[in-house]
Amino acid sequence: SFEVELHRSRRVVHIPATMTVLDALAAEGIEIPVSCAQGVCGTCLTRVLAGEVAHHDLYLTPAEQAANDCFLPCCSRARSPRLVLDL
Ligand code: FES
Repeated sequence: SFEVELHRSRRVVHIPATMTVLDALAAEGIEIPVSCAQGVCGTCLTRVLAGEVAHHDLYLTPAEQAANDCFLPCCSRARSPRLVLDL
């Protein structure tokens, strides 16, 4: 598990191992637009300000994944204890 910090709304949400980031945020009332929920369409693309992403999507190119400045919270997770998002 890891934490997600929502920079603009100044909140921290715990992401359990059994939930996606998208679902854990939705459970806290933070809605991110979602369509495929499988890392294919790019609808849920969210900017990352700090922390290291574990990319599991099929949407971003390898170069975009390596840039570590955005991720797809319907399927991707964190490698670091905390991700800071532009939300
Ligand atoms: Fe399609 Fe996340 S909802 S990539």
